[in-house]
Amino acid sequence: MRSLVAALALTVGLATSGITLAATRNFELNIQDTKITLVNKQTYHTFAFNGQVPGPLLYVDEGDDVNVTVNNMTALSHTIHWHGLLQKDNWKMDGVPGVTQEAIKPGDSFTYHFKAEPAGTLWYHCHVNTNEHVDLRGMWGPLIVKPKHPTALEKTVTKEFVMMLSEWDSKWADQPGHGGLPSDRPDYFTINGKAFPEVQPMRVNKGDVVRIRLIGTGDETHSIHLHGHDFLIAFKDGQPLANPILADTVLIAPGERYDLIFKADNPGRWMIHDHMESHTVNGQDPMGGMMTVLEYNGIPNDPWYELGQHKFQPNFYYEDSIKQGEGFYNNDVFKGQLLQ
Ligand code: CU
Repeated sequence: MRSLVAALALTVGLATSGITLAATRNFELNIQDTKITLVNKQTYHTFAFNGQVPGPLLYVDEGDDVNVTVNNMTALSHTIHWHGLLQKDNWKMDGVPGVTQEAIKPGDSFTYHFKAEPAGTLWYHCHVNTNEHVDLRGMWGPLIVKPKHPTALEKTVTKEFVMMLSEWDSKWADQPGHGGLPSDRPDYFTINGKAFPEVQPMRVNKGDVVRIRLIGTGDETHSIHLHGHDFLIAFKDGQPLANPILADTVLIAPGERYDLIFKADNPGRWMIHDHMESHTVNGQDPMGGMMTVLEYNGIPNDPWYELGQHKFQPNFYYEDSIKQGEGFYNNDVFKGQLLQ
């Protein structure tokens, strides 16, 4: 009886003090040879996490204890680096082969343990031969750590999107184990693994406060421009900026993250694209690559509207997953064809 009273007192005490206990979250990632389609007939051999590019969304609370078991089902060695995590007193979980651990060999498994800190937009990626595995083989996914103390600005957000930016050199598409050389010239440019017009629009309602989490996964810098709106550059590498910057274009270099926040107050269909013109091609064809459309619900479709000609696939930016709250989210939209 005494212990029950003590337990109740502890629970009430925690509740009244606003403290929540850290959760333990257990996830599993399989690394699998997977063929994905970037756009049109351009396929690519990847080492995908759970057969999808980008990998599953890991969405946790700040301070959570996270365990991720990684099963390597490919013929090459890999690790996972958790880009942005502090790993205090935990450096052996940083995922760098030959520095913090031996790489995970083909057929082997390894479990990473870490505390989710700091909060913000983070990501995970392989750290073996990154020139090839990250830049050409799709070994990346989003990691969002929800803050214990959100900023006043982010509390106003009603709709979130994740955009992972990357580029590909088609000459290595079917040669796993090769590529990632200084002479490479990328000729395909994707948002969440797809190039225009195979991307999905970002659908919003008038009045939404929109947050776009940009993640630079590749080897090129991008100049992301949104038409018809100004946004606040509110976070850099997961951290809130003391003085957010009002802008309509943001440069994002490899590894960086920027969180853009803006009010959807201008109904229509608005391009959002990389202003590096060489990144708006599909191979030798112009008007493709790294671009998509911010699309307000209620604007009628037009027969000449390029993205209006495809079947809409929700959750292309993890927007529905994020709405469900913390957890682990595979995403059928990104599934490729498993290769044996
Ligand atoms: Cu790898």
